[in-house]
Amino acid sequence: MKIKKVTKAIFPVAGMGTRFLPATKSIPKEIMTLVDRPLIQYAIDEARAAGIKEFIFVTARGKSALEDYFDHSPELENTLRKAGKTDLLEILKDTNMDSGAIAYVRQNRALGLGHAVWCAQRLVGNEPFAVLLPDDVIAAEKPCLQQMMEAYAETGGNMVAAMEVSPAKASSYGVLDIDEDMGSVVRAKGMVEKPKPGEAPSNLAVIGRYILTPKVMSNLNKMKQGAGGEIQLTDAIAEETNDGSVYGFRFVGQRYDCGSKAGFLQATVAFALSRPDLRDEFSTYLHDMIALQKAAQ
Ligand code: G1P
Repeated sequence: MKIKKVTKAIFPVAGMGTRFLPATKSIPKEIMTLVDRPLIQYAIDEARAAGIKEFIFVTARGKSALEDYFDHSPELENTLRKAGKTDLLEILKDTNMDSGAIAYVRQNRALGLGHAVWCAQRLVGNEPFAVLLPDDVIAAEKPCLQQMMEAYAETGGNMVAAMEVSPAKASSYGVLDIDEDMGSVVRAKGMVEKPKPGEAPSNLAVIGRYILTPKVMSNLNKMKQGAGGEIQLTDAIAEETNDGSVYGFRFVGQRYDCGSKAGFLQATVAFALSRPDLRDEFSTYLHDMIALQKAAQ
């Protein structure tokens, strides 16, 4: 079987981020920072590590700060160069995209994740593609999408990142109906978006990393409304389970739900503690805070 290489990735970034109001009144959620890097930078780095060459952002009104973020900033770069701040210039390099490597397409109505992905249809063409949801930040020695690409090189078809969740949490996710469990890879015989409590087919939830076939993109043409009245990506993928070509992949890594305040804070603490320049001072502070809290109880 000849498996086509995946070089295009879609980043759905059109959401209003209402859970982070008032901050998101003027800042796109994806620009909010974990320590000193915007959420979107983590997703871009992960995609690059997995061999992605073309980056497609599905945006909306009020997201222009995202476009600026990936642009060169000649004034800033000149100032840093003149001041001999090569370390900072180096940091900025990760934010620059080659001309032609990045494209923006607008989703002008919030009709759901499936619709957002469909908006990139013409840019993706008849090729397999990746989707990364920047809210899901995954800390891993080998970046999650790269792990998936390696597994996909064996399976082909469609692959979604998957993680065990407690039955009480399953209704917040897309959930896999497992046909065959092969360890890190499972074959799915169905997928349900946001199952009702007690109705989840398993406790294996979909996390926001996908490798998908052009067939899934054409399934989205039907514009079928699913859970919550939205056009769901899960439903378009689920159609492909009929021929056994949908796989879940249990990645190795820690996932943070940065779409929620608690998850965002947990990620902030974890990333700060993993930074050599912050670790000592920050962990001393955390210990002191916890001791103070305990004393006050
Ligand atoms: C989306 C997907 C869902 C998936 C989740 C992972 O849901 O629709 O299938 O499990 O991302 O984070 P959302 O969190 O946008 O409601």
